[in-house]
Amino acid sequence: MVGATIMHLQCLRRMVDDDGWIRTLLEEAENERMHLMMFIEIAKPTVFERLVVMLAQWVFYIGFFLLYLVSSRTAHRVVGYFEEEAVLSYTLYLKEIDEGRSPNVTAPAIAKHYWKLSDDATLRDVVLVVRDDEAHHRDVNHRFASKLAGEPIDDGHIAPYPQHADESRSQS
Ligand SMILES: [Fe+2]
Ligand SMILES: [Fe+2]
Repeated sequence: MVGATIMHLQCLRRMVDDDGWIRTLLEEAENERMHLMMFIEIAKPTVFERLVVMLAQWVFYIGFFLLYLVSSRTAHRVVGYFEEEAVLSYTLYLKEIDEGRSPNVTAPAIAKHYWKLSDDATLRDVVLVVRDDEAHHRDVNHRFASKLAGEPIDDGHIAPYPQHADESRSQS
């Protein structure tokens, strides 16, 4: 959301096209919000946890906004590394589920709807698709960082999120 806001203002000021970056970044923000909407169904955060989130949001939003203003390349690189950590975390989460330390509950309805999962989908299925999302964010952000650094990259269209690109995944 920070990147999309700053890039939107930059494009207006410089009167240049955004090459689809703004939409890509907004889609990423919405996708992350859906991760939260889904996981609050599973985790049921306490009032204290909600307060921590509020505090973290203020600190992170302001800090990241400033970083993006100073160096958008660094900001995207940092997000790329965060997303890589998210992929690792979800891999560990899968291990927790597979080894019985986390119950493999039924997938929340919101997850089945958003990721077009089957009716009998479980938390494990959700974690798999969320991890795919994080891998996609990692690639997009590292790619943006490399592009901003002037490194040669494949300048083709950045693929949409897997669940939007592959309607058939729910049947698999
Ligand atoms: Fe996420
Ligand atoms: Fe992510």
